[in-house]
Amino acid sequence: METKQKTIFSAIQPSGSITLGNYLGAIKNWITLQENFNCIFSLADLHAITVRQEAKELRKNTLEAYALLLACGIDPQKSIFFIQSHVNTHTQLAWILDCYTQFGELSRMTQFKDKSKKHADNINCGLFTYPVLMVADILLYQTDMVPIGSDQKQHLELTRTVAERFNSIYSPTFTVPEPYIPKSGAKIMSLQDPTKKMSKSDSNANSRVSILENPDDIIKKFKRAVTDSESSVRYDKNKPGINNLMIIYSCITGKKFDEIEKEFDGRGYGEFKAAVGESVISHLIPIQNKYKEFIKDKEYLEKCYKESAEKAQYISNKTLNKVMKKVGFII
Ligand code: TYM
Repeated sequence: METKQKTIFSAIQPSGSITLGNYLGAIKNWITLQENFNCIFSLADLHAITVRQEAKELRKNTLEAYALLLACGIDPQKSIFFIQSHVNTHTQLAWILDCYTQFGELSRMTQFKDKSKKHADNINCGLFTYPVLMVADILLYQTDMVPIGSDQKQHLELTRTVAERFNSIYSPTFTVPEPYIPKSGAKIMSLQDPTKKMSKSDSNANSRVSILENPDDIIKKFKRAVTDSESSVRYDKNKPGINNLMIIYSCITGKKFDEIEKEFDGRGYGEFKAAVGESVISHLIPIQNKYKEFIKDKEYLEKCYKESAEKAQYISNKTLNKVMKKVGFII
């Protein structure tokens, strides 16, 4: 008997420039997983409007992010890669699942608490119910596994809770997904404050490296990375800055921590920071070159996202129809 290939779903917001944190925590794994699984990826533009966006900028960012993810290695021949707002089942299922999610559950979401502090002038309802849209994104495709960084873990737990709740009120409807969080790189930290995660929206641009950043700036940012006052390169829970750089170096080069410690034995932080910067640059340059090609070819980008949206619409309609029948709508 043929076993069914597992389905993977994940998404990223197209706001701002995609960072090395997004890449190492999520995108790099998407590329590996697409070789062996049935993969569906999305640009979550509907999520992006939970904070105020300039229309022109959002359109530009979305197209650029699409080209960039192709440059990172998403292959539209192997994976479905669509723009979330092109597939209308996401907002439809999100509304239904809003009615199966408790206010208290959403109030406990740490991202909501953080973001409402950051955007105190615009704590809109979308920001509050955003995790339910993410639940809908995942459940529509009967997803088995969701590759994410550790900051999305709580949203994945909510997804499992809502899926199990719906399945037990009615009958098995949704696959209950597992998170796929990498052992190394699940939370890349800010280069300026290694106790905070690296984020697209950090007001300090020196805190992050974006995938499209130019090599001189990348080197400068790593040289300026905040570390401690020691000088030996070793992994230690009291050295968050060095740990973060070791994780980045290890994810990029595939070297283990003890190999890195040996390589930099007696060489000091300056040399180590430069080496991390160089390794990141040589990894990113081929991606940057491919990006320049993809972004020029608007016709190809359109063909890819339209074909993918059609496939995603077809698959997700099946789940939505099942749900609508069970809830009691006339369809
Ligand atoms: P977003 O756009 O904030 O981030 C996209 C992915 O990058 C990971 N990530 C990180 N990983 C390691 N270190 C970091 N510093 C870092 N920063 C971000 C995130 O964990 C994520 O995996 N709500 C989601 C997008 C989304 C989604 C979904 C994800 C919408 N629907 C369904 C999975 C499944 C978000 O805002 O991710």
